[in-house]
Amino acid sequence: MKIPFFKKLKNVKATANLNADDSDSDSTSAGGSISENIPIPSAISIGHRRSSSRFGPRRLVIGIDFGTTHSGVSYALIYPGNNPENVKVKQVNWLSMIGDATPNLGGKIPSIIGMEKTNDESNVYWGFQKIPSGCDIFQWMKILLEPFDTSGYQDSSHVQTTKNFLDKHGLTAVELVSKYLGLIWNAAKVEIDACEPQIFERAGIEKTVVLSVPAGWSEKATQNTYAAAASAFRGQGIDYKKNLKLINEPAAAAIHVLTQEKKDRPDFVKEEDCVIVCDAGGGTVDVVTFQVTNMSPHLVLEEKVAPKGGLCGSIYLDKAFEPVLSSMIGQRKPRNGNPLVDDLENARDVVTKQFNREVKTQFGGEHSKSRVFTTSFYPAVKDPQNPETEISELRFTFETLRAIFEPICHKIWFLINSQIEKLEELNLLHKLKVVVLVGGFGNSQYLRQFLREQLARRGSSVQLKMLANGEGYVLTFIPTNSIL
Ligand SMILES: Nc1ncnc2c1ncn2[C@@H]1O[C@H](COP(=O)(O)OP(=O)(O)OP(=O)(O)O)[C@@H](O)[C@H]1O
Ligand SMILES: [Mg+2]
Repeated sequence: MKIPFFKKLKNVKATANLNADDSDSDSTSAGGSISENIPIPSAISIGHRRSSSRFGPRRLVIGIDFGTTHSGVSYALIYPGNNPENVKVKQVNWLSMIGDATPNLGGKIPSIIGMEKTNDESNVYWGFQKIPSGCDIFQWMKILLEPFDTSGYQDSSHVQTTKNFLDKHGLTAVELVSKYLGLIWNAAKVEIDACEPQIFERAGIEKTVVLSVPAGWSEKATQNTYAAAASAFRGQGIDYKKNLKLINEPAAAAIHVLTQEKKDRPDFVKEEDCVIVCDAGGGTVDVVTFQVTNMSPHLVLEEKVAPKGGLCGSIYLDKAFEPVLSSMIGQRKPRNGNPLVDDLENARDVVTKQFNREVKTQFGGEHSKSRVFTTSFYPAVKDPQNPETEISELRFTFETLRAIFEPICHKIWFLINSQIEKLEELNLLHKLKVVVLVGGFGNSQYLRQFLREQLARRGSSVQLKMLANGEGYVLTFIPTNSIL
């Protein structure tokens, strides 16, 4: 199978190390299949100069950031000859799906599907919809697209559960992701249509979909992602062979961040500065290094170190928490109607959620060292360590949590440091101005402090910049620069 990576990143030169091979395009180890032969260059380089033509079609460009835990959609209507920096990128805000009681995730929507056993379309719930109890819930489906995993995610309970449900519903990971992309696409269309009436019907507007993929994705995982998207957009008025493109997540992040920073803080970077962008998300962490080669009349970036990524996002904290919890309350057991077992399993689920929502997000920062993090549940359960007593809370010390965070933070540092080393080889280290951290995990105080310390240990005075809280969550990543 051949995959068109986004090639027209205007003045952004980037190379994705994809040696496309269509030897087994019809079956992937994640179970995807796509029969058409989609043209792809064998090695992909991005770096076209902008055409100055004022003619040509208007384009509606829709960017889809399909995330492991949350996804986002942004769009822009682009007229030929527009200055790329003046193109207004709007974000789909899911207003029609968000009820009063639903937390607004800063423009992102949960990457989750619930299905009733019939596997019927009408019994599918997703995103912000309330999933009725009894539904089979599919989470973290994105990482199932990556068959070459060395991170051990396969044994995490969420992934196991999702895999079991896939078997039960006779679906492959690619088919499931395709279903999710179809759902998000249909909902996004409604939202976009509400702001730009009848845009999908108007003649003369070319529609392009740009889907971001992790930089560290294997070729197979990239093919799987493309197969899922192509099957989702087939019959949707998108000429997917021509107008469905992939872009590396960190490149998308870099374009978004630097274009935005230039508007808000014109002195943030200057010509020749190098910037490392690290997108620390739920499943993957991706890094890339760009150099600013022009600031005016518009920002021009050149990729200096190829993007790299790893499976070390925030869900790996949740995964590392599982054995810690089991060491306190025993190994997971199937619910069997016995209150001794079921109450314990309910307690496990409650504590796991509290870890995800409260403990890991609050860990780090000034007071963590002296703080004990408490999780609580009801009803109380017999303490497996001491059956004479009942427990209704579990406590986690700094050291316990540090042991969960540290190996994952080290992996992230390793990715960033390898970019720094490459810059050193290129004799460009003195040009490195800033490491920009984006993505939900980028909000972690512990990770920020850890990276600051590692940078300092390296003797580097490079600034570590985080986008303001929440902002890191949303990436309106449309590479507007590229489309004109
Ligand atoms: N303060 C925090 N500390 C640690 N993790 C956090 C924090 N805030 C949010 N997260 C985690 O960040 C993740 C969401 O981030 P984001 O939306 O960038 O990921 P994603 O796009 O779903 O994943 P990916 O890009 O890796 O596929 C969730 O796993 C969430 O638990
Ligand atoms: Mg993401």
